[in-house]
Amino acid sequence: MQPEQRTTIAETRKAVADARRRGLAIGLVPTMGALHAGHAALIERARHDAGYVVVSIFVNPIQFDRPEDYQAYRIDLQRDLNVCAEHGADLVFAPPVEEVYPSPQSTFVEVLGLTDHLCGHFRPGHFRGVTTVVSKLFHMVAPDLAFFGEKDAQQLAVIERMVLDLNLPIRIVPVPTVRDSDGLAVSSRNARLSPEERRIAPLLFQALTAARESVVQGCSSTAEVRRKALALFESRPQFRVEYLEIVDPKTMIPVAQITGPVRIAAAVWLGNTRLIDNVYCPRTR
Ligand code: PAF
Repeated sequence: MQPEQRTTIAETRKAVADARRRGLAIGLVPTMGALHAGHAALIERARHDAGYVVVSIFVNPIQFDRPEDYQAYRIDLQRDLNVCAEHGADLVFAPPVEEVYPSPQSTFVEVLGLTDHLCGHFRPGHFRGVTTVVSKLFHMVAPDLAFFGEKDAQQLAVIERMVLDLNLPIRIVPVPTVRDSDGLAVSSRNARLSPEERRIAPLLFQALTAARESVVQGCSSTAEVRRKALALFESRPQFRVEYLEIVDPKTMIPVAQITGPVRIAAAVWLGNTRLIDNVYCPRTR
């Protein structure tokens, strides 16, 4: 069944209030469209956990650190609506930019500390844009639950912290990364890879997996784990590693020694496409 489609905050609030009156828990899946299997997993999890599933589709201009990326970002709303229908969304909230930003924005939500490293370091202003729009969406939809992918582990940690710090009555539900059969994490950016780049792209996951294996085998030196993982890229000049870090999973701050659970996160450029991925590593020895 096609989901209802709304473009204004007022109509969305009304539909959500009706669902709440029917006793349904509200689940929100925030997206920027261009929906793929990763989003499908978020919607399906929301369908399972919530009684009424809202998918927001909004390409948020203030989270792009490179204006050309915003200009080039394309979505096919009809295709996205079909994905939402197929996976069980009840309502799609797809507002125009003026609805979300009716006047130039002077108020921002910013999570400090957690955004200092990894993508936060390389994409200035990105997380401020994300937390600002996500807090707006939380105010507009007022969900009980909101669903975010573990592929964007830093984003997930930042949103969890924002919810905690702002006392928002919303449960954040992490959803595992969806991968293609060769290990590449599903992302809308994968479509920009040339056939040759797509063929070699799984090296990112292979490097992270190799790093995790070193940690599981008992290596506690971050330098050593990084050295082995980075060596995999040496014979592949097509890749430019932006970062490969071993971080505390709660603070997202790089650790010098591995003494507990860690997250290993990386961003690489493959041609003109930036890919990110991460793996969680519980310490087993
Ligand atoms: O992960 C995304 O697609 C975006 O950062 C989000 C959470 C929808 C905010 O614009």
